[in-house]
Amino acid sequence: MEYEERIVAAGLQPEEELLEKSIRPRRFSDYVGQSSVTDNLKVYIQASKMRGEPLDHVLFYGPPGLGKTTLAGIIAAEMGVDLRITAGPAITRAGDLASILTNLNDNDVLFIDEIHRLNRAVEEVLYSAMEDFALDIVTGKGPAAHSLRIQLPKFTLVGATTRAGSLSAPLRDRFGVLAKFELYTVDELSRILERTARILGVSICEKAKKLLASRSRGTPRIANRLLKRVRDFSQVEGLDTINEEIVESTLSALGIDSLGLEDLDRKILELIIVRFKGGPVGIDTIAASIGEERVTIEDVYEPYLMQAGLLARTSRGRVVTDDAYRHLGLDIPGGPDEQQISF
Ligand SMILES: Nc1ncnc2c1ncn2[C@@H]1O[C@H](COP(=O)(O)OP(=O)(O)O)[C@@H](O)[C@H]1O
Ligand SMILES: [Mg+2]
Repeated sequence: MEYEERIVAAGLQPEEELLEKSIRPRRFSDYVGQSSVTDNLKVYIQASKMRGEPLDHVLFYGPPGLGKTTLAGIIAAEMGVDLRITAGPAITRAGDLASILTNLNDNDVLFIDEIHRLNRAVEEVLYSAMEDFALDIVTGKGPAAHSLRIQLPKFTLVGATTRAGSLSAPLRDRFGVLAKFELYTVDELSRILERTARILGVSICEKAKKLLASRSRGTPRIANRLLKRVRDFSQVEGLDTINEEIVESTLSALGIDSLGLEDLDRKILELIIVRFKGGPVGIDTIAASIGEERVTIEDVYEPYLMQAGLLARTSRGRVVTDDAYRHLGLDIPGGPDEQQISF
């Protein structure tokens, strides 16, 4: 199965865009959880509105599907300004960025997704834009070269990346606010599902909601995606209300287990257990053996495996925990069956 086809793929799939638009929260009041990020942001937004200045540049980092794009939109809405959305790989030349920047209005929010994928030349233009709200344009060559400084509107850059560490230090240092996104709790995901169900006009019982939330890998985008799949199954079955049984049968049809793991998660754990005696094993070895990109494993699969307490990172590589053996129904080495008492 291609990565994009998997339920776990936390990236946006094309046919989802329309639905995303209708269920994406537009205000803080609809944005659930992530309070260590939002509590401070609310203060900064209020303060900059009182001063009539743009908000400081903000960097969001964390796994996909956790609400970074959504929060950028909320910032713009709460500031009462326009939002311009682009992505690192989409800005190929310095001139592209210059034209985006010169077309902003004062206090506008520019959101650059996957900001770690900006190329060097574009990134350098961004430095003076962020720091001085200015563009330095060089015309001509050699001794005839002139440098021209163009003043820009005072904008706010909101950058998003899966990892703060993948950004160059000079770029990272130019953000006033660095905000780390965490996986959501089951309670938070239940609240998100409650709202999504309301918008979709489907009825779901409390237990089914909890169950779905607990299988969604701490990720709102996955929770919403699973709800849509369950809705399909329950519609075909002619159910008025989504219940636990239909959630269970949908999830098992999708190959999602009791912890929300899918095939590739289990493959990673099995590989470490069977081929590497539980680890430690290096991430590159895992990636090569599984035939998956290292960044995909690190950014999409590992965060949840670690939160679920099945995998740990050590300085010598990845190790599985006893719970991973239990979850896969495998004997724990040195466990009750094999344990030898020694003094
Ligand atoms: N805190 C939240 N509260 C409610 N829904 C959320 C929240 N965060 C994300 N979502 C939902 O999950 C979807 C994915 O969020 P998105 O902002 O696109 O994630 P990211 O940009 O981090 O990949 C959104 O469309 C939204 O419906
Ligand atoms: Mg996004």
